[in-house]
Parts: sequence; C-alpha cells; structure tokens
Amino acid sequence: MSQQLIFTNDVAGAIDNWARTAAPTRLFVIADTNTASLVLPQLEEKSSAIAEAAKIIVGAGEGFKNITTLAEIWSELCSGGATRSAAVINIGGGVITDMGGFAAATFKRGIRFVNVPTTLLAAVDAAVGGKTGIDFRGLKNEIGAFAPADAVIISTRFFRTLPATELRSGYAEMLKHALLAGDGSFDRLISVEPDSLTDDELLELVKQSVLVKKDVVTKDPTEKGLRKALNLGHTPGHAFESLALEKGSPVPHGYAVAWGLVVDLVLSHLKLGFPSALLRQVAQYVLDTYNVPDINCTDYPRIVEYMRHDKKNAGDGTISFTLLSAPGQVDVSCTAEPDEITAALDIFRDLMHI
Ligand code: GLY
Repeated sequence: MSQQLIFTNDVAGAIDNWARTAAPTRLFVIADTNTASLVLPQLEEKSSAIAEAAKIIVGAGEGFKNITTLAEIWSELCSGGATRSAAVINIGGGVITDMGGFAAATFKRGIRFVNVPTTLLAAVDAAVGGKTGIDFRGLKNEIGAFAPADAVIISTRFFRTLPATELRSGYAEMLKHALLAGDGSFDRLISVEPDSLTDDELLELVKQSVLVKKDVVTKDPTEKGLRKALNLGHTPGHAFESLALEKGSPVPHGYAVAWGLVVDLVLSHLKLGFPSALLRQVAQYVLDTYNVPDINCTDYPRIVEYMRHDKKNAGDGTISFTLLSAPGQVDVSCTAEPDEITAALDIFRDLMHI
C-alpha cells in the first residue's frame, strides 16, 4: 500500500506542496462543523490550496457517518464539477477521514485524497492504512473499502483544541502499537503523562507509533492475517464500549481500548506466558491515566456476549483475540472460552482495584 506519510507541524506548507505536485484540476475540502470553525480558518490563512478549495461541511459526530451524509458529499462533488483529476482533502477526526476517504474512493471509481487528521486517535489509527467507510443499519464501518490516501499529513498542532480525554484516547492506540513493536518505545510512553508532552515531543512519539502501523499494513493491507495484530485490546475494548453505551454512559473509544489492552494482557499472561511484572506495570499506567470501567461480575455475561458478536470472529462461535507472549511477539489467531474470559476479567478487576 503506497501512502505518503508526512510528519510536520507546518501543515499548511505540506498541503500546498502536495497540491503543487499533485496538481488536481479541482480541490475539495471535507470537514465537519467543529473543524470548520476551529481549524479551517487558520489553514485558510496560511494555505492557498485550502483557501481556494471548495468546502464540503458536514455534521459533526459518529451519527453523521452514514449513507445520507455520504450522498451529500457525492452530490457536492458532482455539483462542484469534480472529474477524475480532482482531489479531496479530509480534515478532521476518524469519522471524516473514514467517510471522506470512502466518498473519494467511490466517486467516479476513485479520485485522489489526502487525510489531515486533527485528533490524535485519527493520526495514529483511522487516517493511516487505507480503511475507509461508513456506518450502516447501526453497525460501525459496515460499508467500506480499502483505499489508501495519497498522503497523510500528520501534525500535533490541532490536538490542543480538544479536551484532554481526546488526547488520552489516542494515546491508548500508541500504547498498543508500542506493545506490538516491542522496541522499548513502551517504556518512554509510560514514563510520561500524555498531556505533559510538547507538540514536538508528541510528534516524535506519534511518528514512531504510526510507523509501527505502517509496517503492519504494508505487509497485510487487507487484513488477511498480520493486520489483525492491530486488534490488540479491541475485542474486550469494544465490549466495554458497547456496555457503557447500553448503560447510558458512553466512554471514549481509547479509554475502552486501554482497559481492553489490560484484559488482553491478562489473557496473554494466562495463555501465552506474557510477563506478569510488565502486565502489572501496564495495568498501573492504565489505572492512573484512564481510571476504570463501570463493571462488576454481574456484567460478565453481557461482556462475553458482546465479544461473541464482534465482527472479527471467524463465525464458528469462537471468540478471537490477538495476544502477546511478550512485547513484539504477537499471535493473531488466539481464541478464548467464556470461562477463561471471566477468569481474565476477575484478574483485570483485581489489578484495577474495581
Ligand atoms: N484500526 C485497525 C486497522 O486499521 O487495521
């Protein structure tokens, strides 16, 4: 998958450089209403490409990541005279990079697009690696395509306009990448509070993190095997996220992933011998940074049920996990039985003092 990754805190300059080289006949910016007021004005001042581009502004939030908004985007591309040589710049979080990428990938069978993620979560995950799509019939990313952005311009400048919970949410995916890489970057990540890093320090850590994802995605772009490694933390994470939603108190995706990482490392310890000292260290960092989910043992059947319905399962009734025998030693084809999962949840609650 060829996808240019540009790490810079001069986003306007990077966009103008890209536009000069790519020379699209028409340029369209897709953003949501929040980004349109918080980020677009500064970019329009500094980037002539952005100033001159046609703007497609959509509603903010996961609720707008649907076929209706997608049709509006296609419609504005049509009315704006987009041809195959036009291009789109998606500026926003994961909803915008996913949906804008899918709109571009499907318009006239595909026009070029660039992602400019404005959240840490999108920078280290959604914007990179070519997954695009929309939600459908209540299911996340049910309709989509693998379509790499021409370029992803990654900066840490926009993250300060967001609440601290957003930054921490993205940081959880960085913890995941560091555990998958097993290269020592994990020690650096857990030696600091995400909010205390400067933009440049964070950019360096983001770069290391994104390169871990890029390496995995390059080897397995369409998730036939190795890319499943990126699901570390996500089987229990999605279950925590869904349960919180069901209870009427939603949690940020990254918080659920952070808790899910601890559960997956408990399972990794039980099934593959992941070192207990490191498991405790991760649990302590997650407890200090993300607090704890609102669960007790009466929630276990719901959690297992949510895991059973995870779309990553093989469809034969087993529950799939990506686990580690050590940092950097990944097994993407693990399964666990309900009694193993509840044992892991008991240990998770002990570690998290729930
Ligand atoms: N978010 C996991 C992946 O891109 O495969």
